[in-house]
Amino acid sequence: MRSAIVKAALLGIGLLALLIGLYSYGTVGQRAKSAEDEVKYLIGVSQPNLVEPWRVMMNEEIKREVEKHADLRVIFTDAANDSRQQADDVRKLMGYGIDLLIISLDDPVMLTPIVTDTFRNIPVIVLGRGVTGYDYTLYIGTDNRLIGSKAGEYAKQLLDNGSGKRIIEIKGLQGAPTVEERSAGFHEALADREDIRIAASIYADWQRDKSEDELNELLADHADVDLIFAHNDAMALGASKALAHHRISGVTIIGVDGVNSDNGGLQLVKNGVLTGTFTSPTGGGEAIQYAVDILNEEKGIPKKVILRSHQITADNAESFERKTAVSEVKPRRGITDHRPIRIGFAQVGTESGWRLAHTKSVISAAKEEGIELLFEDADQQQEKQIEYIRKFIAERVDIIVFSPVIKTGWDEVLREAKEAGIPVILSDREVKVSDDSLWTAYIGSDFTEEGRRAARWLVQELADAEGGVNIVELQGTKDSGPMAGRKQGFEDIIAQDGKYRIVDSLQGDFTFISGKELMHEALKKHGSNIHVVYAHNDDMALGAIEAIEHAGLRPGKDILVISIDATKAALKALAAGKMNFVVECTPLLGPQLMKAVKDYMAGKELPMKIITSEGVFTQETAKRELANREY
Ligand code: AHR
Repeated sequence: MRSAIVKAALLGIGLLALLIGLYSYGTVGQRAKSAEDEVKYLIGVSQPNLVEPWRVMMNEEIKREVEKHADLRVIFTDAANDSRQQADDVRKLMGYGIDLLIISLDDPVMLTPIVTDTFRNIPVIVLGRGVTGYDYTLYIGTDNRLIGSKAGEYAKQLLDNGSGKRIIEIKGLQGAPTVEERSAGFHEALADREDIRIAASIYADWQRDKSEDELNELLADHADVDLIFAHNDAMALGASKALAHHRISGVTIIGVDGVNSDNGGLQLVKNGVLTGTFTSPTGGGEAIQYAVDILNEEKGIPKKVILRSHQITADNAESFERKTAVSEVKPRRGITDHRPIRIGFAQVGTESGWRLAHTKSVISAAKEEGIELLFEDADQQQEKQIEYIRKFIAERVDIIVFSPVIKTGWDEVLREAKEAGIPVILSDREVKVSDDSLWTAYIGSDFTEEGRRAARWLVQELADAEGGVNIVELQGTKDSGPMAGRKQGFEDIIAQDGKYRIVDSLQGDFTFISGKELMHEALKKHGSNIHVVYAHNDDMALGAIEAIEHAGLRPGKDILVISIDATKAALKALAAGKMNFVVECTPLLGPQLMKAVKDYMAGKELPMKIITSEGVFTQETAKRELANREY
């Protein structure tokens, strides 16, 4: 909360701001008389430029949301495309005593250090385009690889099979992760079409004018182009101007952003300048909503919120505009019927301590929110989960929630739910389906990052160890999301050093007994040549510990044990020195799930993914954590 001195100083900022190019916004500015009493939190918003319509829209959305909070004041800065200036802006904002920083940036190399520094002192929300690493409170943005891949699929559709189709790709800023991801997704999607060639890729720093200039130059030598994919609509517009300059017609242009403003992508599609665009929601409104929760120290703030991208073409531009108009947000059935919301929850099973805690969290959060919950336990069997989902469809619940036991095989039943008009929220595990509109939101962990964290610890711990490091991996349920992600993330990191070898990767199912039996087998085969056990969850690790002790070896000493979940039982083993490192995967997803359910019923569009914030534990930190552990 702001001190009286700082609050008083706020009134002076408006004046100062005019002198140094900052500008402030909030209810206080509109009602200066009572400002001193009402300002509770001061938020700084740092933008790299305000030339792009997408950034202007982001600020508009921030302002619109701020208007709902009488006690918030926001100071905006615009660095006019100068990264040094943006770093200075952040320092100035800190000097004004902001309570929270919202930053959107183009240049992660220059700006990650200042974001890291700021995060040491106050919460930071990174918006739209990311920084490298994890030194921030919350990231809100889109799945850029997915956007690139959807643009690629669309390009294939537009360029019929035939000979020699040429594409020019216009990218944002060189080296920015957003750019690399959009480009990688685009290239991957095109890989199966030999008749399509990316003839040229140019960087235009997200700027319309630069895109026009660069393309003008390129077209002077290579006027032969069938399609242009620009990483944002501003650059797509610049491209259309360059084409017009060279009197080239018939070229399809695809952009990204879909902002509804003059010269924004939605209007450009409506008036035929672009063939299509993919929305990249700015997240401005969500940033303020989460900022308030963070400042009020609410529990369960996620680490990442990934917003859904929609395709806009001439066919749906009008209806998209109507649907997304602010006034159109209407509560859905259930709220309007004045009856309790009813959800059906098809749980995986009871395989682990984590799972029991997850079930408990969902049931008690539903109860707390007055939401009626129909609960079914599928005993780790996909057929049963499908049967329960069908049952929920027949019972016409408002929302279906499930944790898919494995990733694939859900298309048919999810299509049935969609046809019945029942949204599906994935709690804890993701699915792999051909059409991502078959599910509404995913709330859970980043399993690949969990695997990376486990491996990063190992690589650091054994940095000085000489000779090879032999690892036994105990995998979770075959084809499940956590098993695939944890395996991949771990492998990615250890692959960077040849001394780490996975000597056996054994298929388990997240149960204690599978961990014990598999470790018993591994010990029979490799004896004391095993240096490390990497278990995909705590239950399997605890089972492995029993097997190691049974073989007369000391877990945590003769064999290092690393695991994922951070249940109380595992932290006890860690504190007792029988394990060495545990990556947290929180099962306490109930409150976030119920918030999403209520938001959906209130008529809001849910984020595509809400990724939970999680920590890691060593033998030392486990001792401290044990007293607070809820599961
Ligand atoms: O999907 C999450 C995983 O499922 C947990 O890590 C594991 O313990 C559980 O069974």
